[in-house]
Amino acid sequence: MRLTRVFTVLATMVAITAMAYTAKAAPTYVGVNQCKMCHMKQYNVWKDTAHAKAFDALKPADQAKPECIKCHITGDNKELKGVQCEACHGAGSEYKSFAVMKNVKEAEAKGLVPKPVNVCVKCHNKNSPNFKGFDFNTAWPKIKHGL
Ligand code: HEC
Ligand code: HEC
Ligand code: HEC
Ligand code: HEC
Repeated sequence: MRLTRVFTVLATMVAITAMAYTAKAAPTYVGVNQCKMCHMKQYNVWKDTAHAKAFDALKPADQAKPECIKCHITGDNKELKGVQCEACHGAGSEYKSFAVMKNVKEAEAKGLVPKPVNVCVKCHNKNSPNFKGFDFNTAWPKIKHGL
């Protein structure tokens, strides 16, 4: 009886430690300036796209509305204005170091989405008040960077 109880306490402690560890590893958004350091070529294309200016496109009153800004910022961080790299490629805190990034498979395991072709419709959908339809094959060439 007592032994069972001790075991239960131990098992609970292990579970809590595992949960704490997982929570710690949850990636966060670091912002475009972090990516720019090593990806100047992609940055120079991105900065002239509508995505870079997506927050500025909102009227000042709408910039205060959560229901509007959610597709005009990166992640759920209001400090990260516009549709930045990580809005498509995933939150970068765990993959942005050179040691991880140079190995794309490892970066992917830490949250990188190398080819985010299915991410577009998270924002380009009928919940956008200005939605006029979306076709990846015609939209991508307008914002294509690199390759
Ligand atoms: C310290 C330098 C460094 C930083 C900072 C960095 N990267 Fe990278 N990134 C690299 C290197 C090196 C590669 C591998 C290039 C190669 O394929 O040889 C890479 C590859 C990539 C790839 C291509 C993966 C593929 O399929 O080949 C993407 C996408 C990417 N990075 C996105 C980002 C994003 C988004 C950020 C910011 C959150 C970022 N990187 C920050 C160095 C960096
Ligand atoms: C579901 C994501 C989403 C939400 C929510 C959203 N937008 Fe947008 N917004 C977009 C996308 C995507 C575009 C690019 C046009 C499109 O829909 O294809 C856009 C474009 C715009 C533009 C640029 C004008 C244009 O015709 O291109 C303005 C202004 C704008 N949105 C205002 C708003 C306002 C105001 C709200 C809140 C009432 C809002 N958006 C909520 C995704 C969203
Ligand atoms: C986080 C939300 C979000 C994601 C993800 C997203 N977009 Fe957008 N996109 C927007 C918003 C908001 C605008 C409007 C910006 C403006 O008009 O200022 C926009 C504008 C555009 C435009 C310019 C519209 C025009 O006709 O000039 C293109 C092209 C586009 N997006 C393509 C894509 C593609 C391709 C993907 C996926 C690879 C993608 N978007 C992913 C939110 C998003
Ligand atoms: C609207 C979504 C979106 C945004 C924003 C975005 N990317 Fe990409 N990126 C993509 C897609 C989709 C691909 C894959 C294209 C393919 O493989 O056909 C890609 C490919 C890449 C690649 C690999 C191809 C290459 O250029 O060698 C790198 C590196 C990269 N992006 C870095 C960045 C950086 C850095 C930023 C921010 C400055 C950024 N991306 C912003 C959607 C996006």
